[in-house]
Amino acid sequence: MKKTPVEVFSDWAKVGKDFGMQQGHKNSVEKMLQFATKGLKKFSFIDAGCGNGWVIRDVSKLVECTNATGVDGSLDMIMKAKDIDRNNSYFCRDLLEWKPKDKVDLVHSMEVFYYFKNPLKLISHIYDNWLKINSRLIIGMDFYSENKVSHSWPEKTGVSIMELLPENTWIKYFKESGFKNVESWRIGKSENWEGTLVVTGNK
Ligand SMILES: C[S@@+](CC[C@H](N)C(=O)[O-])C[C@H]1O[C@@H](n2cnc3c(N)ncnc32)[C@H](O)[C@@H]1O
Repeated sequence: MKKTPVEVFSDWAKVGKDFGMQQGHKNSVEKMLQFATKGLKKFSFIDAGCGNGWVIRDVSKLVECTNATGVDGSLDMIMKAKDIDRNNSYFCRDLLEWKPKDKVDLVHSMEVFYYFKNPLKLISHIYDNWLKINSRLIIGMDFYSENKVSHSWPEKTGVSIMELLPENTWIKYFKESGFKNVESWRIGKSENWEGTLVVTGNK
């Protein structure tokens, strides 16, 4: 019997597998954030599906960051984040149901959006309810059609919802939600590994 994404990642948090995931995502996330924060004098920040909160802890140290908030559906992940970091805000909520009190300048997310049955709904929700005018959404994903080695992950991990989509569908979803200047690229491509697919756009 397969488990929901949140159930699986709660199990991971309980046995410390979140720290391995952090190491695995670090290189791609650093490069995404370098791109997304370049030239920003001041910005507020949300990590959508923040896991144990490691990106919030890193980004909140930047002098330009005025406010950093992490949201994740897994209580085990959020309890861990809150335990390590008392300074920033963390919320345990489904991303589709949550809205920030104040809209932000930058929303980042790594390895989260394909865990939704309807990713277009999530992208539109973030555009409409999380982002200010002149802001950015940037997402990174290793599970996508062109990255053939990732196709076996739903079986390997036993996760019930994993939407396998090609790069051009992700771009279409951003444009349909209203994003401008939509761009995509890959980070860390090597033999048999297409790299992290990055998709971003401005509101
Ligand atoms: C692969 S992990 C990535 C965590 C983090 N971004 C990182 O790079 O370490 C995916 C995360 O998405 C969260 N997630 C999955 N579905 C969710 C949902 N519907 N609402 C909120 N969080 C969700 C999981 O709990 C998990 O922490």
